[in-house]
Amino acid sequence: MVSVHRRPSWEIAERFATPEPVFLNRRSILKGFGLGMFAAASLAATAGAPAAQEADPTADLYPAKKNEAYKLDRPITPEEINGNYNNFYEFGSSKSIAANAQNLVIRPWEIAVDGLVEKPFTIAFDDLVRKFPLETRLYRHRCVEAWSMTVPWAGFPLKSLVGLAKPLASAKYVRFETFLDPDMASGQNSFLYPWPYIEGVTIAEAANELAFIVTGAYDKPVAKQHGAPLRLHLPWKYGFKSIKSIRRISFVEERPVGLWEALLPSEYGFWANVNPEVSHPRWSQATERVLATGEIVPTLLFNGYGDQVAQLYAGMDPSTLYM
Ligand code: MTE
Repeated sequence: MVSVHRRPSWEIAERFATPEPVFLNRRSILKGFGLGMFAAASLAATAGAPAAQEADPTADLYPAKKNEAYKLDRPITPEEINGNYNNFYEFGSSKSIAANAQNLVIRPWEIAVDGLVEKPFTIAFDDLVRKFPLETRLYRHRCVEAWSMTVPWAGFPLKSLVGLAKPLASAKYVRFETFLDPDMASGQNSFLYPWPYIEGVTIAEAANELAFIVTGAYDKPVAKQHGAPLRLHLPWKYGFKSIKSIRRISFVEERPVGLWEALLPSEYGFWANVNPEVSHPRWSQATERVLATGEIVPTLLFNGYGDQVAQLYAGMDPSTLYM
């Protein structure tokens, strides 16, 4: 039997935070197995013993120099809280995927850069990470599920990578793709999701100073559950845009369709800019629950980063920009 967990009043029930068809399907499937969500999460966490800790050849790059331009209005979320409350559906659909995510094999790790570029190439992560100076930035992260966290990410601006790729003038968007390996990532055996995880931004968004390729956090290489060895972070957008464990970066003419948009286009769109005034079809986005403190605070337009990004959307129909 499932153990019953009483939710604090501020917590969104999973059925509100998970796309409905996914939730309903998953429930009926789990019911078929006589399992509830709690049992399923425990199974996922024990599905494979964590791989032995390999020495990380990039550990010498951290701590990276702090960029003082990025300040926070609230404390940094403790690492043990952020590191145990994740969305990484490749390793399970609960928040407790940290143990299962240790199965992620991050070496060797190559990233393909292709599409509309002068010359497509593949580069090893360990080479890419040494191409640009790393810096530490304190960023807020606002999930579409109405919780937020603050993280000292380390990495380099996405625009440096765009410069390395030398896109052609015909490239309008950057498309990111996560690995596809159901043997390693048990969640990818689920037929409920259109794997692999994909996300995309416009070229102008990719060139914005805030768009950041994360390679580290908390003064060390980024943890597997946060999307090692490299992930995106777009602090003015809902968290699902910040794709983890990137394997392929393509410059394309057509707007990419992300995993969530492909699954539920009426709820998750391409832009996904944070806007407290535009509700998700099933819940309000006016406030957010701060991880660790549980405080409920007002959500800010563009997650508080309007000065840096509002000009990207000048002249566009605002009603289309927040989904
Ligand atoms: N990237 C991949 N590949 N798979 C995922 O499931 N989840 C997204 C995003 N990137 C996700 C992903 C969502 S919904 C959020 S909120 C953030 O990662 C969570 O990042 P965190 O676990 O490091 O807090």
